[in-house]
Amino acid sequence: MSPLTRLLVLVFAIGAGLVYKQLNHFWGDLPVPVLDEQQWWGDEAQPKDYAAYLANSTEIMGNRLVYPEERLEDLAKLLNRTLRLTPPLEGVAFEYGFNSNYLKELVAYWRDDYLPRWRSREVFLWQFNHFTTEIQGLRMHFLHLMAYDENKVGKQHYPVLLLHGWPGSVREFYDLIHLLHQTDLDDNNKYIFNVIVPSLPGYGWSQGTSRTGMGPAQVAIMLRNLMLRLGYNKFFIQGGDWGSILGSHIATLFPQNVLGYHSNMCNNLSPRSMVKGSLASLWPSLFVPNGFEDFFFPKSREFNYLMEESGYFHIQATKPDTIGAALTDNPVGLAAYILEKFSTWTNASYRALPDGGLTRRYKLDALLDNVMIYYLTNSITTSQRLYAEAYTNEQRALRLERVPTNVPTGCARFKGDIMHFLDIQLQDKYKNLIHSTYYPRGGHFAALEVPQVLYKDFIEFVQKVERKFKIPTL
Ligand SMILES: *[C@@H]1O[C@H](CO)[C@@H](O)[C@H](O)[C@H]1NC(C)=O
Ligand SMILES: *[C@@H]1O[C@H](CO)[C@@H](O)[C@H](O)[C@H]1NC(C)=O
Ligand SMILES: *[C@@H]1O[C@H](CO)[C@@H](O)[C@H](O)[C@H]1NC(C)=O
Repeated sequence: MSPLTRLLVLVFAIGAGLVYKQLNHFWGDLPVPVLDEQQWWGDEAQPKDYAAYLANSTEIMGNRLVYPEERLEDLAKLLNRTLRLTPPLEGVAFEYGFNSNYLKELVAYWRDDYLPRWRSREVFLWQFNHFTTEIQGLRMHFLHLMAYDENKVGKQHYPVLLLHGWPGSVREFYDLIHLLHQTDLDDNNKYIFNVIVPSLPGYGWSQGTSRTGMGPAQVAIMLRNLMLRLGYNKFFIQGGDWGSILGSHIATLFPQNVLGYHSNMCNNLSPRSMVKGSLASLWPSLFVPNGFEDFFFPKSREFNYLMEESGYFHIQATKPDTIGAALTDNPVGLAAYILEKFSTWTNASYRALPDGGLTRRYKLDALLDNVMIYYLTNSITTSQRLYAEAYTNEQRALRLERVPTNVPTGCARFKGDIMHFLDIQLQDKYKNLIHSTYYPRGGHFAALEVPQVLYKDFIEFVQKVERKFKIPTL
């Protein structure tokens, strides 16, 4: 090499090093941030002797709400008003949002069929034990199913935390809970789980905070504190939607507590992952198992879909209280706003159906149970604030999407879901992605829509964790 070439090589190497350093600064892995694990969220001022309060506020109460007759009569009246809905445009089904002709039918069913049966819906909803306890100043609601010793004989036994999202609730999990908690002794069913299903703070019967700053990282801390309160130091997590993000945060911040993280909406929105996703679109077959390319590609379809369907997200992330005001005490609007998502996010092609395909994969009663939970607890505004708190500068500065997650991770992709991520994107964050599956049928609300499929997938994941990580049964 001539001296000049040597110089050029040297300059090039230094340049490449600097570029790499810059890139790494922009997208490299980051350490776990330190967060306040007992931040106070209560309405009152934080107790003076907070340590004594924390030691003392561990009471767990049974909770079997029965709503007074007036509350239901009030709702019946609201549903009985003359609806001045604007008719849909000619030939339009759900493409412009919830179809108002079908909304009239839905409201009539709700008022004349479902609501008169509300007491039996209560019996259904209270079939599991409901509890509340206070976490960091807020009342938190959860279902808790424990296995008796005699049911554990001959079975593997673990705790699992099930996490719902928006606009869902604990109701999404009812069938899955039964599957996870089967007590019968047959060879096909080697597992019995203790199942813990919280309502997220500000959702359903869990109190919302009156303070700013409770983003997903802070909610993850509260959920983990709930598990510790109940005596679970090691547990599995399953979740979709916000439950996916919260479960990921728990696994990232507190790996010592998590046996495995399973999600039906694994995602990685880090810069490196986004670049990988775009590059992969140049040669999809290199990155996707044969036959599943159309889960991810073409990217233009995904982009259009997000443009068409993410308006709610922007509103809730910026002005949750305004849309909250429009929906509060407005059961008809609330049902339209919530159930439009159960149509489109289950299967985008249902937008072309006059009834949004709502009853194709769900029972109307199950969907209305979920709407009733938002209505009776008046939680639509507090539920939507989670979006706003997720996009504050403080929350984004945590950069949790760039903090590696080392716990065993399982990802089930359902074709109809809102977005999908490639293994090479997920592995960027989830360093132990040991389970990755594809289902051509099913959408965003997998637990409610295809509970058997989700259960089977979760069990396969648990078995892989057992084989690879020799976990203790509890
Ligand atoms: C702890 O709880 C007990 C019983 O509820 C109560 O009498 C006591 O004042 C509480 N102590 C503190 C420090 O809150
Ligand atoms: C609805 O209004 C009609 C006519 O005013 C009345 O006959 C009916 O009882 C009402 N139904 C309910 C559920 O309030
Ligand atoms: C969506 O619905 C269409 C039409 O019914 C069907 O062909 C397709 O398989 C469904 N997709 C999913 C993910 O269920």
